[in-house]
Amino acid sequence: MRAIIWPKYGPPDVLQLKVVETPTPKGDEVLIKVVAATVFAGDCEMRRFDFPMSFWLPLRLMFGLRKPKRKVQILGQELAGEIEAVGKDVTQFKKGDQVFAPAEKFGAYADYICLPATDAIARKPANMSYEEAATVPVGGLNALHFVRKGNVQTGDEVLINGAAGSIGTFAVQIAKIAGAEVTAVDSSRKLDMLRSIGADEVIDYTQEDFTRNGKTYDVIIDVVGKSSYSRSVTSLNENGRYVLGNPRFSGLFKGLWTSLTSSKKVIAALTGYKAEDLVCLKDLIEAGKMKTVIDRRYPLEDIVEAHRYVETGQKTGHVVITVAGDGKSDPDG
Ligand SMILES: NC(=O)c1ccc[n+]([C@@H]2O[C@H](COP(=O)([O-])OP(=O)(O)OC[C@H]3O[C@@H](n4cnc5c(N)ncnc54)[C@H](OP(=O)(O)O)[C@@H]3O)[C@@H](O)[C@H]2O)c1
Repeated sequence: MRAIIWPKYGPPDVLQLKVVETPTPKGDEVLIKVVAATVFAGDCEMRRFDFPMSFWLPLRLMFGLRKPKRKVQILGQELAGEIEAVGKDVTQFKKGDQVFAPAEKFGAYADYICLPATDAIARKPANMSYEEAATVPVGGLNALHFVRKGNVQTGDEVLINGAAGSIGTFAVQIAKIAGAEVTAVDSSRKLDMLRSIGADEVIDYTQEDFTRNGKTYDVIIDVVGKSSYSRSVTSLNENGRYVLGNPRFSGLFKGLWTSLTSSKKVIAALTGYKAEDLVCLKDLIEAGKMKTVIDRRYPLEDIVEAHRYVETGQKTGHVVITVAGDGKSDPDG
């Protein structure tokens, strides 16, 4: 099968298209024919190994000290595709099922991937193409987790910082579904899109610092982790919740102190992916309550270009990698 190999940490052109052996599912695994995958910020951070000092060593030990370990050498963290085969112990899926899933141990930039059937895998939303469905797992599951961690209630004033990316576009929509008044913060070119997916107010962070404009919120979800900690806490109402979507060690300690000494809660939101949550997202999509925003599509062989584009920061919503066919239509037509 074709796969994008990640032989060393570095810029986009370390990625190489190679032919490798197609994996065989173990007893508890499914083999998925990948139709579409994505490139998002997390893929680029992983490829160049761009992490804060405090996380650097533990992550290098996990992923490979000098170069990526062999078992993680195919990048790609989410996909949509069709079940090609199932292991002997798998009862919940069968050949031909159309599914979408995060690939927690990578491997989505390939024609086929094996995943444990107990991973967060769900039937693809019936009203989405494979390309659209591939954009949902990582961004959607993180967004759902962040909104839940913020305990967003009807009528809450919610601010989402970094709202136009893979996670933020879903966080805006899920917060709206929860009944919140949503302020979305991102760069100027992306604000029309944010209004189109339901944001009530938008702030261009290049023109205005939301932590200095005197407004306060019940919940602040900082997806990008770029707002000032102390001023963000000051921008919370009494009993407000500050969700750190991209937490640093320092934020964890400050957050503990704030939570212990005030009515405000600071939550470091590290997401664990669950199939039931993916089904929840599928249900919202099929009910017409949530959609995705696709900026660009690239074929698998143009993965280097796709990574380069995502690194420019211009991406609005999602960038899709089409692995099989045109990724747009279902195999049934
Ligand atoms: N907590 C977790 O479990 C978890 C899971 C997955 C990912 N993450 C992390 O979450 C982060 C965001 O992921 P993503 O995929 O949503 O990224 P993304 O698609 O790149 O979106 C980030 C958005 O934030 C905007 N932005 C950049 N600087 C900003 C600032 N100072 N203020 C406000 N907005 C700003 C960017 O716009 P411009 O480029 O135009 O400025 C972009 O639209 C990544 O660092 C990722 O590693 C955390």
